[in-house]
Amino acid sequence: MITVKNNRPIRVGVLGVGRGKSFTGNAAKAAGFELVAVCDTWEERLKKFGEERKVAIYTEYAKFLEHDMDAVVLANYFHQHAPFAIKALKAGMHVMSETAACHTLGEGVELIRAVEKAGKTYMFAENYPYMRHNQEMRRLFKAGEFGTFMYGECEYVHPMDADSANSISPGLNHWRNWIPATYYCTHGMAPVMFITDTWPVKVNGFVVHTAPDNPEGQRRPSLHDGGAMMAVRMDNDAVVKLLQGGLRGHDICTRIHAAKGYMEGRNGQVTLIRQQWHEKRKHPERMTYTPDFPVMNELAMKTGHGGGDFYTMYYFADAIRKKEQPYLDVYRGVAMSIVGIQAYRSALADGETVVVPDLRKESARKYHAKDDWSPDPARRRTGQPWSSVEGNKKPSAFALNYARKIWKKTGYTGK
Ligand SMILES: NC(=O)c1ccc[n+]([C@@H]2O[C@H](COP(=O)([O-])OP(=O)(O)OC[C@H]3O[C@@H](n4cnc5c(N)ncnc54)[C@H](O)[C@@H]3O)[C@@H](O)[C@H]2O)c1
Repeated sequence: MITVKNNRPIRVGVLGVGRGKSFTGNAAKAAGFELVAVCDTWEERLKKFGEERKVAIYTEYAKFLEHDMDAVVLANYFHQHAPFAIKALKAGMHVMSETAACHTLGEGVELIRAVEKAGKTYMFAENYPYMRHNQEMRRLFKAGEFGTFMYGECEYVHPMDADSANSISPGLNHWRNWIPATYYCTHGMAPVMFITDTWPVKVNGFVVHTAPDNPEGQRRPSLHDGGAMMAVRMDNDAVVKLLQGGLRGHDICTRIHAAKGYMEGRNGQVTLIRQQWHEKRKHPERMTYTPDFPVMNELAMKTGHGGGDFYTMYYFADAIRKKEQPYLDVYRGVAMSIVGIQAYRSALADGETVVVPDLRKESARKYHAKDDWSPDPARRRTGQPWSSVEGNKKPSAFALNYARKIWKKTGYTGK
């Protein structure tokens, strides 16, 4: 348990006032943080937030890092976290970083080295493992009654109407319009790693093409594919299927098939199937229930993403106070993030097997230190991949005009 009472609050600054806001409320306070500064280049939003919360505001990250504080939470663009984390570590801050931890394998190596050198706490802010059902499945799995982990599935299938999707993706080069379909993989990979304590070692990636008759797709200027399925081999030889993207049929769930039983989690509920054919029957064959969170249940119930948003702050504070690294440390954060990169390499090679290097090992770090393979439009040069397996996609004039009207309503003034 965190002993917040006997300690002064941890002074935290947040980068990015979109998703970043979820790290500034009552849950963060209860975990022991005091919000002291926020930073965003979107001045209008920043000023509004700063006035509401009476905290220091910065548009320049370098100036923000000079603020007197202990820790920063990075909720800036998906593909830019590693360089911002490295700067914060060098400035003496503890860091919690949103998904993804790194955008290239080379950045993953650099980030790991920076954390080791700084001696500060780094936490990867993956909130999905901390959903109620996933925490309960970890508790059960660790208790050992389910035996060897054999096969798992995790789905992060999150379709959205075009207006909502466009409003959170302002500008053609916004990452939500171009990151390859395999990249947003940590919401699926993290729960399985967390429940079973296994690590990814190889991946086969497949992307699903966009469909021309999808009315939402017609209104989105997307440069990538419609979804992705990845088959991941774990370090105990178990196989995991990840399914993700904006496919129809919203579902966020985890399934674990083990030697002595099966667990499934969805919407905070857990279903267990235990066929005790050759054992003394100790449990009902099938049961479904809603577990409590292991700690601070009532508070967690009130926070976003099924309680997950509370526990990332809670365990970040815990690790800072104990002067240690959390479970979701830089090694796990990088490992689960690079699954999506390697899966895209695989998808471009028609699903061939690609190794997910173990960047805890110096030999793997040396090999990948200069790997800057990326479809980021800002890093485009010969040899870099396009965002879609179909190549250089061009949005239709209709989609672009449709999206621009929505972007304008959000206050976005760019192209
Ligand atoms: N874990 C979750 O459940 C969850 C949910 C939503 C978003 N996210 C993650 O949070 C991050 C942010 O997502 P978002 O939804 O807020 O959308 P977003 O990426 O559009 O927002 C990023 C914000 O950071 C600001 N920003 C970007 N670069 C900056 C810089 N150099 N200096 C100052 N400010 C800068 C932008 O102006 C914007 O307000 C992403 O990495 C996303 O993957 C995670």
